[in-house]
Amino acid sequence: MDEVLDKINNDLRNSLSEKRYKHSLGVMKKAEELAKIYNIDINKAKLVGLAHDIGKELSDEQMLQYVRENNIEIDNVEEVNVGLLHAKIGADICKKKYNFSADMQDAIKFHTVGNENMDLFAKIIYVADKIEEGRIYKNEEKMKELQTVRELAEHDIDEALLYEIDSSIKYTIQKQKLIHPDSILVRNKLLKERKN
Ligand SMILES: [Fe+2]
Ligand SMILES: [Fe+2]
Repeated sequence: MDEVLDKINNDLRNSLSEKRYKHSLGVMKKAEELAKIYNIDINKAKLVGLAHDIGKELSDEQMLQYVRENNIEIDNVEEVNVGLLHAKIGADICKKKYNFSADMQDAIKFHTVGNENMDLFAKIIYVADKIEEGRIYKNEEKMKELQTVRELAEHDIDEALLYEIDSSIKYTIQKQKLIHPDSILVRNKLLKERKN
């Protein structure tokens, strides 16, 4: 195992709940699979897949303290849904602790609500997070949608991402929660670029 990967693996095993740790391993595995299909750096995909939720189990208070102490900007949706900050915080932790490059940090930053500036690497991490093999929903419709994204991801990452963004916006509306504008921006961009 790569030295940094080994270190992240140890850190996560010792700090995350078993459920989240398993999810992280699942995302690493799925990111590796997708990296092979789309010809991107497999090692980078594994590192980011494994580390993406490193900030996820901090409490709201800890997240707010972290962003204050590390000069991370917080937007008006994150002010309400503090948990969203785990993406920005995770990117910052990985930069400082494991020396992650800018594109690796961006993939972590963008993994929760998406972003207009996602590159292929960030798209793969976003999708891998949503479709890793451990994801199971009780809701039948959600399970069907998950299966669709899994199939799309095997040959068209943009379509997989668009489908996933649409379904997450749909559930956000159903729950009457705030939609992050970045989700809308990436959706519009994907639709404009769509090859018909
Ligand atoms: Fe996450
Ligand atoms: Fe995740």
